[in-house]
Amino acid sequence: MSAVRIPFNKQVELPGNLDLISEAVKSGQCAGNGPFGKRCETFLEEVIGCRRALMTTSCTHALETVGLLLDLKPGDEVIVPSYTFVSTANAFALRGTTIRFCDIRSDTLNLDESLLESLVNEKTRLIVPVHYAGVACEMEAIMKIAGGTGIEVAEDNAHGLFASYQGEPLGTFGTFATQSFHETKNFSCGEGGALLLNREDLIERAEIVRDKGTDRSQFFRGEVDKYGWKELGSSYVISDILSAVLLGQLQRREEITARRGEIWNRYYSELKNWASASDVRLPFIPDGRQQSFHMFYLIMPSEDARNRFIDVMRGKGIGAVFHYLPLHESEFISKKQYTDPCPVTSDISRRLVRLPIYYNLSVEEQEEVLGAVKIFEC
Ligand SMILES: Cc1ncc(COP(=O)(O)O)c(C=O)c1O
Repeated sequence: MSAVRIPFNKQVELPGNLDLISEAVKSGQCAGNGPFGKRCETFLEEVIGCRRALMTTSCTHALETVGLLLDLKPGDEVIVPSYTFVSTANAFALRGTTIRFCDIRSDTLNLDESLLESLVNEKTRLIVPVHYAGVACEMEAIMKIAGGTGIEVAEDNAHGLFASYQGEPLGTFGTFATQSFHETKNFSCGEGGALLLNREDLIERAEIVRDKGTDRSQFFRGEVDKYGWKELGSSYVISDILSAVLLGQLQRREEITARRGEIWNRYYSELKNWASASDVRLPFIPDGRQQSFHMFYLIMPSEDARNRFIDVMRGKGIGAVFHYLPLHESEFISKKQYTDPCPVTSDISRRLVRLPIYYNLSVEEQEEVLGAVKIFEC
């Protein structure tokens, strides 16, 4: 098997990044809640317009913080799409809740809001829409359903940093939103995340949950004269060294997003004819949405064509990869509970493949990817 020369993903490489890391190390304040973490948080608050951003060790841990803040417990129900990463559901399964899986729309691959009414009941505490590929869910409809019933919404926005829905930034709709700065994301510090909060009264508790259940943040701000154990929490504060890595990228957010956008648009315009002749579907971006250009996927006509495509691309040294396995079909859930079928998720999961897209993907590499795709016969 030939080695992959053009990987599916590469972490952003920017000049000057190492300077910020050494500044963080030399400052002697490498733990969490340091100056770089605070600058990242202020940046996110100002650009997105959320009430408060808290840097966390991962998106997974930001989601777990939501579970703790809402005091979720056995008997409560949480609605998540089946087509998502394990963490979207696992974070709430950890609290003993019952996970209700919602199928996805076949156009955007986002949670199908028309199915929510049938899943909501008196036990429902939370809906977690995932903005798949950084293309917004139908937030107006979702917020309407949740709003009438007192159910909370946490946007899993791991893919969609700086994207928007009808002009409003993602992360400002739900009471909570969670971001990922994992290596595979548009902006990354290897492993990292953020919890965005849009309700003032939860901010102090969120700081406590993030900091081992203690009011250490308030202590360091001089608001209390000693700190102690206040409620259940964990160690979800990210090191300032990682925040330094991230800050360098956030400061160049327009350039990073624009570069990804150029690649995405080029793939789209150059693959349009091949796709329609080959019965392949390209991503769909509805009106009123500014996407994050996180992902470029193809929906192949069959699972067999998808698997052959991955093998052929790998044979040419190009990393093309599948995505989520349906959570409602997972071993963990199958052993635990009955779940309603999610036929669109099951179908899409078997046919979707993603092409390499990252900031440092050169024009020549893009041409190589496009050339290899355009001669593939489904
Ligand atoms: C939709 C979604 N949510 C959550 C996560 C978890 O992110 P993290 O690795 O930062 O915990 C991922 C990871 O890829 C994801 O795709």
